[in-house]
Order: sequence, then structure tokens, then C-alpha cells
Amino acid sequence: MSPAIFITLLLFIPVIFIFFIKGSRKTASRLPPGSLGFPMIGQSFSLLYAMKKNTAEKWIQERIRKCGPVSKLTLFGTPTVMIHGQAANKFLFTSDCNTLGNQQPASIMRILGSRTLFELSSDDHKRVRGALVSFLKPEVLKQYVGKMDLQVRMHLESHWQGKQKITVLPLMKTLTFNIVCSLLFGLDAGARRDKFVEHFKKMIGGMWSVPINLPFTRFNHSLTASSKVQSMILQLINEKRTASFQQTDHQGQQQDLITCLLNIKDKENNINNSAALTDQEIIDNVRLVMTAGYDTSSILLTFLIRLLANNPVVHASILKEQEEIANSKASRDELLTWEDLAKMKYTWRVAMETLRMIPPVFGGFRKALKDVEFGGYLIPKGWQIFWAASLTHMDETIFEEPSKFDPARFENQSSTIPPYCFVAFGGGPRMCPGYEFARLETLITIHHLVTRFTWKLSCSDDSFIRDPMPEPVRGLPIEIQTRQLE
Ligand code: HEM
Repeated sequence: MSPAIFITLLLFIPVIFIFFIKGSRKTASRLPPGSLGFPMIGQSFSLLYAMKKNTAEKWIQERIRKCGPVSKLTLFGTPTVMIHGQAANKFLFTSDCNTLGNQQPASIMRILGSRTLFELSSDDHKRVRGALVSFLKPEVLKQYVGKMDLQVRMHLESHWQGKQKITVLPLMKTLTFNIVCSLLFGLDAGARRDKFVEHFKKMIGGMWSVPINLPFTRFNHSLTASSKVQSMILQLINEKRTASFQQTDHQGQQQDLITCLLNIKDKENNINNSAALTDQEIIDNVRLVMTAGYDTSSILLTFLIRLLANNPVVHASILKEQEEIANSKASRDELLTWEDLAKMKYTWRVAMETLRMIPPVFGGFRKALKDVEFGGYLIPKGWQIFWAASLTHMDETIFEEPSKFDPARFENQSSTIPPYCFVAFGGGPRMCPGYEFARLETLITIHHLVTRFTWKLSCSDDSFIRDPMPEPVRGLPIEIQTRQLE
């Protein structure tokens, strides 16, 4: 090597070295603060433990205090960025589907199927979601108020009337499951629905389990039950398809979700008048809707019943609103209507405030589909993003005195609550499509409960745990009395 080349290299090596160090430092310093922790495990156990102890909010607040609103950690074996605040919610709910994708634990995908809305993105997500929403939208659901009312009355006759002591949570789960079966699948009371609920409960039992498929694991039992649920839905699909062929005129007829999904045609690729959804997509999304609408609504109803036992002022105001509606009816047998539900404004504000303080869905996960920047930090492609809704709900800069129960916050929601701050139903293109359905179930049930019964808690400990959904300890046992009607 000539001395000239040698000297040039000698001069350049430090320059290249400095450039390399500076460059990599620049990238590294743009990663959020925090530590990824022990490989694979990271902070998963400590978060799960905090959830079980109902201290997850404190756990997250402590992280934010130490590392700020954007921090890195490892959750469930994946490098993760935890983001929090109004800007974080906006980023999460408005980023396009090529930037952020949905991310669910592997166990959920294996149990519910690979064609659910949770797993789909872009055009596939739009197509399947559009089909579900065509049934779940208010214009369609308004025809079903009477049918839902009948389900609630039947439930109260068999499980509340004449009883002195009941446990609320399992009963509310039975009620919401029966409503979903009747309205969405056209499956009314009987041996078949009993079998369905038996398999369904086993199926969801292992949704949050470690996905190890060995004969003795919870996950394995869940998978077995999931395939039984799949066979039952397939049988329903075949029956409804045959019935649809025989019935040519569907005008003015009440349908169920499965029939509606079978009849939606693929307008984009109109080949041979083909259906918009495959049978597998219908099966997987029926399983998703059953699951998504089961715990969430029953938990909201359970916490409303707990609130009404503890808060006589709210109880009196709800009773007044509901009695006015009941008294406007010619008889107690007359079913509620869509117009009646529109009058239940205070009751719905109480439900929203309950969801603010105890959101059934604690948060969620998304996945960075490409390198993306948030809050001045880099979130590398493939990392998951963890958001916790309840943090904006309890942020005193957004909700004054956040620990105070105050339904008046929802009086003029759009002007008093800043956007992306109340996110119990999520937001953006993945926002909960069951909002209206949940509203109907909640209002109709509360109407009948307060006008027909009084109750008090029979367990002095009315605290709750989150695993991952909030549940009152011992399922909320109560003592009930039937009200005397004038
Ligand atoms: C109080 C009741 C409910 C609450 C609080 C609730 C909350 C949520 C939340 C937070 C999400 C996630 C949104 C996101 O990832 O951005 C979601 C998604 C979903 N919910 Fe609900 N939900 C409720 C009731 C229901 C009901 C009754 C149904 C069905 C009849 C339902 C069906 C769904 C479905 C299918 C999704 C997935 C949407 C998608 O990925 O596009 N939910 N819900």
C-alpha cells in the first residue's frame, strides 16, 4: 500500500467512525425511553399481576411518571411502545391502515378464526365491516326494539321474578347472550341454544390463555369448543340459505344477522351475483360478534346495577325518567319503541359516565406496519403499540374531578368533551360497530329493572378486579324485591 493511500485511510477511518457513531446514536436516541426488559418476558408478568390486583392504572401511571407518555417495553414477547394521551388516541385511531394494523394475542386469532375483523385490514376489513354494519346500524336496529324488549321481559320472568337473592354478573351474561342469539342469529330459547351457550362459554374460557395446544390445557379445550361452535353456525348458515332460496320476497320482513350477511352481494366484483362474504368469513365474524357483545354489555349492565344500589340520587332520577315512559303506555304489556328509547337521555348519560369510570375494554394493541414517528420518537416497523383508554378518562386536565361520578359531563358531549378523550368504544375505522346494539340492550334492561324491582348489595365488598375485563368480586350478589305497581 502506498504511503499516500495509507495516510488517506488513516484520516478517513476516524471520520467514518464518527459518522457511524453519530448516525446510530441519532436513530437510537429517537427510540422512546424505557427498557425492553428481560427478552421475551419483559414487563408482561408485572402488568398482568397489576391487572389481577386492579392496580393496572397505577402501574401505567407510574411508568408515565418515570418514562413520559411514550415509552418502550416488552409485552407478550413483542417489543412494544406504550403511548398515552389525547394526541396518542388521535394518532392511533386516525392512522391509515398501511401505517398501523390491528394486533391481537395469537390465542384470540386461533380461537375466533383468521377472517375476523380483528385480523382483516384495508379493503377486506372495509368489506366485512360494511356487511356487519348494514345490520347493526340504527335504521335497521330500530325495527328490533320490540323483539329485544320481549327477550328482557322473558329473562326477568325466569331469573328475577319471585327471587330474593341473585348474582348479577352471570345473569347479565345470560341475558346479553340470549339477546345476541335471538336478534343476530334467529336462535330462540330451546335445547339448541342451550348447547350453543355451553360450547360458547368453553370457547371463550381460553381466549386469554397461553396458546399451548396440549390435551390438558385451557387453550386446547377452547379450540375444541370453538370447532363445535363453528359446526353449529355452519348448520345455521345452511338452514338460512335454504330458507332464503325458498323465500324470494324479503321486503318488510325481519331478518337476522346471518340471513342478512348471506344476502349481501359482492357489488365490486359482481361475478354471477356472488355473495360478498365467504361462509368462513360469516362463521368467524359471527363468533367475533358473539364474543365482542357478550362480556362488554353484561359488564356495563352489572356496574350500572351496582351504581344504582350505591347512589340513591342517580337511582331516583333514572326511576323518574323511566316511570314517565312506563306511565305513557296503555298497559304494562305494551312494548317499548324506538321513540321511547330516545327519551331515555339521562339513563344513557349515566351509562356513558359508568363507561368513562370503568371502561370494559381497558385498551388495545396495534402494530406498526412501517417505521412511524410519534411524539418525536421512532416506532420501528413490526413493534406493537399499546394504548390504555382509561387514562384519558381519568385525566384531570380533561375531566374535572375525574373520580367524581357526574353524568352531566355527557349533556353536550361534543362541545364539553374534547375529541379522542372518551374512547370507551374506540374510534376511527375500527370503532365498535356494536355501539347502537349495546345502547338498546342497556336502556331496555334498565327500564324494566328500575320500574319492576328494587335491590341492595348483599356483599360488603363491592370492589372489582380486572382480568382483563373488570368484574365485581363474587359477581355482585344482591337482594331483590319486586315493586308494587299501581
Ligand atoms: C358496552 C358495550 C361495548 C363496549 C364498551 C365495546 C367496546 C369496543 C372497543 C373499545 C372496541 C375496539 C375498537 C378499536 O380497536 O379501536 C370494540 C370493537 C368491536 N366491537 Fe364492541 N363494545 C361493546 C359492545 C359491542 C356489541 C354489543 C357488539 C356486537 C353486537 C360489538 C362488536 C364489536 C366488534 C365486531 C368490534 C371489532 C371492530 C373492528 O375491528 O372493526 N361490541 N368494541
